[in-house]
Amino acid sequence: MNTVLVDLDELIARLDLPAKIRLLTGAGMWSLPPLPEIGLDRLVMSDGPIGVRGEQWSAADPSIALPSPTALAATWDVELVRRAGLLLAQEARRKGVHVLLAPTLNLHRSPLGGRHFECLSEDPYMTGEIGAAYVEGVQEGGVATTPKHFVANDFETDRFTVDVVAGDQALRELYLAPFERVVRAGAWGLMTAYNAVNGTTMTEHSELVNGVLKGEWGFDGCVVSDWTAVRSTEPAALGGTDVAMPGPSGPWGGRLEAAVRAGRVPEAVVDDHVRRVLRLAERVGALGGRPPEPAGEPIDGVALARELAARGSTLLVNDGLLPLRGTPTLAVIGVAAREARVMGGGSAQVFPDRVVSPLRGLAERTEVRHALGADPRIRLSPLPGPVTAQFLDGSGTVLNEQPLATGEARWLGELPPGVDGDRLRAVRLRAAYTARTGGGHELSVRGVGAFTLTVNGETVLDENVGLEGADPAVAFLSPPETRVGVAMAAGETYELVLTHPAGTFGGVAFVSFTLGHAEPAAGADELIAEAVRTARECDVAVVVAATTPEVESEGFDRTGLRLPGRQDELISAVAAANPRTVVVVNAGAPVELPWLAEVAAVLVTWFPGQEAGAALADVLFGDAEPGGRLPTTWPARLADAPVTDVTPVDGKVSYDEGVFVGYPAWRRAERAPAFWFGHGLGYTTWSYDSIAAEGTSVTVAVTNTGSRPGREVVQVYAGPRRRLAGFDVVTAEPGQTVLTTVFLPDRAFQMWEDGWRTVEGVHTVEVGRSAADIRLTATVTIS
Ligand code: BGC
Repeated sequence: MNTVLVDLDELIARLDLPAKIRLLTGAGMWSLPPLPEIGLDRLVMSDGPIGVRGEQWSAADPSIALPSPTALAATWDVELVRRAGLLLAQEARRKGVHVLLAPTLNLHRSPLGGRHFECLSEDPYMTGEIGAAYVEGVQEGGVATTPKHFVANDFETDRFTVDVVAGDQALRELYLAPFERVVRAGAWGLMTAYNAVNGTTMTEHSELVNGVLKGEWGFDGCVVSDWTAVRSTEPAALGGTDVAMPGPSGPWGGRLEAAVRAGRVPEAVVDDHVRRVLRLAERVGALGGRPPEPAGEPIDGVALARELAARGSTLLVNDGLLPLRGTPTLAVIGVAAREARVMGGGSAQVFPDRVVSPLRGLAERTEVRHALGADPRIRLSPLPGPVTAQFLDGSGTVLNEQPLATGEARWLGELPPGVDGDRLRAVRLRAAYTARTGGGHELSVRGVGAFTLTVNGETVLDENVGLEGADPAVAFLSPPETRVGVAMAAGETYELVLTHPAGTFGGVAFVSFTLGHAEPAAGADELIAEAVRTARECDVAVVVAATTPEVESEGFDRTGLRLPGRQDELISAVAAANPRTVVVVNAGAPVELPWLAEVAAVLVTWFPGQEAGAALADVLFGDAEPGGRLPTTWPARLADAPVTDVTPVDGKVSYDEGVFVGYPAWRRAERAPAFWFGHGLGYTTWSYDSIAAEGTSVTVAVTNTGSRPGREVVQVYAGPRRRLAGFDVVTAEPGQTVLTTVFLPDRAFQMWEDGWRTVEGVHTVEVGRSAADIRLTATVTIS
């Protein structure tokens, strides 16, 4: 499928300059224009990486929601990730999508990075291996990927303008390395980042895009800009970015045509961009009426989402309480136990058609009692559905209606079928809400613009909310909230109607607002007291502690690593009441665990995707082993982390630490984190028996010394930086010994010094259960 069969040059020769240039800017938010004269269909793109959102930003267009990338990486299982990729290709095909805007290959340089959950790891080798498996899986299904954001978009603060100052060695050995790996694995696309590197914004970075990516690495795919990242005509067109997204307006179009006619941009450059778009189209079956092969045997997405969530779940400590035996009564505590936080915020958002909360998953196994405990949410949750969205024209006529699962209304780029964007003037949400409890309920409106909210025909809120902040993604993804209190009686039904003037901008739909709701709640002290009582009355307490969308999201970085709200206090109080307390950490990235010594077990589920609760029950009750190993070092306190800065100074963030990022940085600083890269417990024990090195392959024997079947991640560290150089997943029955052979890549023994230099001589190879838990060593000789 990788071979291009059509004569692309012949097709290009049939296009005039305006047609060529039209192809290089989006026809809208998510697609490139069709050119029927050469048999080219509309090329449709969609965000990932955990699903395929499609052309609508809406629950009306559901997608599978797999666990977030940190959880995928935590599986250390390239076969499983490849399968996830293939499933995503099938989702993409189902939704008419040709290009999945994923995976995110930026690194966990600082634990404060706001999009940590969407990246894979702090380690470039691991990011490259898991990233390549993802790319291969998706593309095996005939759908393209765009590994992103090339390069050094490792934090969010001032991401449109920040200049990352980084040396060649750090760029080559760390930040470029995963991109190189996926390009060599055959990625069909790539996305250039918003930020600049060493003074040049990435969409114009000819040295890295034309020179390194397309030149040195021989990338023959299509370079798509991040959304609105192309801000110039000639520098971007000459800089190597092939396609400026979104459109139809943008800095290319007529201006690029004029630049070509004036000789400032050679037409051959435009032709090369067009050739890459056509090659991409050919690969995904959008050119010449030659659809790609079917995307493999249909994969059961629900089952795979559940398997991945269990495999990625990382058990940090366990005093023996887990797996749970029998059917203990469970106190299931936390807001996230009931409203699972299954994904991080931002463009990574998709809309699954079902979510299994921890509470529901555990209730299917045993008797559970729920307590809220502590509510860290700053914003109200969307009103539970059913909610109806009505699309109105200027005279108030309903153009169309659409059912929504909640009060969250979002259409970005495309409106629902049957809604004429030119006639649309307002969107109205209607819901008949029956109050479960009587008292002071809260309603809220989240969004930018004018809002009128009525309850039983009476106006309770009439506001015009101004645009705050410069990042449009933030205005869209985490806009301000206005609240109003409304008294309701238990069992009564109330007609809620929220009207918001909305429409299209430059031909692109932009509708985004939320009707929020909260039931009357007890005071914060009373919530904790109630959770303590519940924990005391049950055999085991399971506290689900989570970050919130205000903490982990695209568009901004974190300001600390503490769990938001009073969750730390809640956990200590619950653990004091019941020593059999399991804390489930529902976060995409590390959080501080000040109560670590007080609890029986800590299980990190990351953002576990739609099957969250089912997988949690599998793991807690031992039907599945917690398969995860940390893809990133977990600090005990933010203050200990060797690299933290994400705040530009005079517009720059300097990567002064060079190649010392992640566990090598902790080693160099001689500091111990709470848990090292690679750490994670299963339900059995292992002995590392022997190691034999031959050439650059290492064979290791391990034995399952426990009483349950188990799965072990054998990790190999080597080379001048003592970095991860290979890994393998093995399974064994109790008492069984298994052998695994890991092949170490040449790159493991190289350093960048104005070119790759192999460090010749005798190298120690370390094998173990984490970057700091080394069980066996051997030597290899590199010449
Ligand atoms: C994000 C990209 C995303 C794009 C389209 C940007 O703001 O940085 O990762 O693919 O939006 O949603």
